[in-house]
Amino acid sequence: MNTFTPETIANSFSILDQRINEQPLVYLDNAATTQKPQCVVDAVKHYYEHNNANVHRGAHHLSDLATAQFETARETVAHFINANSSKEIIWTKGTTEAINLVAQSWGMTNLSEGDVIILSQLEHHANIVPWQLVAEKTGAIIKVVGLTQQQIFDLEEYKQLLALKPKLVAVSHVSNVLGNIQPVKEIIELAKSVNATVLIDGAQAVAHVPVDVQALDCDFYVFSGHKLYAPTGTGVLYGKAALLSAMPPYQAGGEMIEHVSFSGTRFNEIPFKFEAGTPNIAGVIGLSQALKFLTQFNRQDIINHEDHIYRYALAQLQQLAGIEIYGDTKHNVGVISFNVTDEHHSDIGVLMDQKGIALRTGHHCAMPLMAYMGVNGTVRASFSLYNTIEDVDRFIQALKEVKEFLG
Ligand code: ALA
Repeated sequence: MNTFTPETIANSFSILDQRINEQPLVYLDNAATTQKPQCVVDAVKHYYEHNNANVHRGAHHLSDLATAQFETARETVAHFINANSSKEIIWTKGTTEAINLVAQSWGMTNLSEGDVIILSQLEHHANIVPWQLVAEKTGAIIKVVGLTQQQIFDLEEYKQLLALKPKLVAVSHVSNVLGNIQPVKEIIELAKSVNATVLIDGAQAVAHVPVDVQALDCDFYVFSGHKLYAPTGTGVLYGKAALLSAMPPYQAGGEMIEHVSFSGTRFNEIPFKFEAGTPNIAGVIGLSQALKFLTQFNRQDIINHEDHIYRYALAQLQQLAGIEIYGDTKHNVGVISFNVTDEHHSDIGVLMDQKGIALRTGHHCAMPLMAYMGVNGTVRASFSLYNTIEDVDRFIQALKEVKEFLG
């Protein structure tokens, strides 16, 4: 295991060494997607240059090679989140598809009129709308857990809602808007005490927080590759084997069948039952490489570095007048959502971009949270392992200039 310092990876992200609007790029939109290290780019390129072939069905060397890499990647992911078996790892396009899969397959089979689904106020639309669609069709009822003053999942209100004996609890591990780490261990334990099934949306967590699905004891855990230094179009649905085996297929096509005839079709076993059609083979190989990149380092070094950058940025920002910062800053993976008094968030985003600072602005696909906070959007700076103190200094200096310009 290698010690992590920003210098150890200084040459791994050449995309960061460029100028945008004639200014050095400072990339602070990591919660939207992270950049990809050179080894991931190389792995994808190598696959296409040397062993592109379809998986599981070829009678030739290249197909065997692609299949071996594809299935080794599944083992790598299983190991990364400590799943009991690689059969519990289903490839998806991303978090959104993984939640839709569970909603349509598990939800449509297990939910009926009057059943309660618990969500929280800070969910991303991807963990709200799929459940609304299921609720509409089945007659299930959605109940929403509010937030404490620190904008963290309100465990007291949750305990009261558990009296309704929910069938499902679906919450995020980390808020994409605020970066707060939610008390998922307690949420899951309490859900289990009333026999609820639990889905954790880990999209914003996996790159920053070590995840052990067996220790958490969640039923489903979902995340995207592209927020974890891997290619876009890759995602993971972890599910307990017994649950996945009992669920009907989500999409139908090749690979997910065992036998097809016009009098009936037998489905393949997990994980293949949920993987209809040719998958994103190159992306999955890239994801596997991204995990090798990440796990070559002592994870705690990375967590310490990200926390150091975040706390430094927060302290600088708190010193500026007319800045409102949202959310809990105590348990945070390194996301700052803020507004500048009397200015529109998108104006700040456009002006900061002129200075080479890449941020995200808007509702961040979390309109219920925006309504709760009484704003229609925020400016979001989200940090990653390659961000440096110099990046933060540039960000703060640019913000000072933008504020001055706007008067
Ligand atoms: N859900 C991603 C974000 O928060 C895209 O930016």
